[in-house]
Amino acid sequence: MAHESIRIIHDEHAALSAMLRSLGMMVERGPGDEAESFFDVLRAMLFYIDEFPERLHHPKESDLLFPRVARLAPEIMETIVRLEKDHAAGESAVRELQHLLLAWELLGDSRRAAFDAAAREYVKFYLDHMQLEETQILPQAEKSLSAQDWTELDAAFASNRDPLTGKYPRDPLYDRLFTRIVMTAPEPIGLGSTR
Ligand SMILES: [Fe+2]
Ligand SMILES: [Fe+2]
Repeated sequence: MAHESIRIIHDEHAALSAMLRSLGMMVERGPGDEAESFFDVLRAMLFYIDEFPERLHHPKESDLLFPRVARLAPEIMETIVRLEKDHAAGESAVRELQHLLLAWELLGDSRRAAFDAAAREYVKFYLDHMQLEETQILPQAEKSLSAQDWTELDAAFASNRDPLTGKYPRDPLYDRLFTRIVMTAPEPIGLGSTR
């Protein structure tokens, strides 16, 4: 049976992938004649990505999972170095994207292309990152880690409470944000039809 921490990583990746794909679709379709809700929901998505995965998901991978895997399977070091670089770059990338979005919203269409290009690149960067973790790090962890490692990892990851996985009671603090994203964003994350 899969370990709890592995299951949580997969759940969080699935939630984040859905969010990123929706974001990509919205960028593809553009604001149409609903600019206000378009910018609202994109802003909420980027804030979410900045808030949850950047603060809770990646740090636990970097602090708890990667060092154990690196110790027990040094041959995978090169991949870990690449993933660590991604983690280090991720926060400034999402902040930059938030800035580019604001520039488009507040300064107008002359700033749209810059946001579009950065958003596409960011979505690809992130999906590739998670795929690399799922195809290389997690299988290697399953092979190498001890029962003691798993106990510690499971406890640490279980304290993550990502509302978008749908597995935990929602934190009221993020309830409004979550609702806004779900109500306005297109599938697969939301129920809306923002074009
Ligand atoms: Fe990661
Ligand atoms: Fe991850």
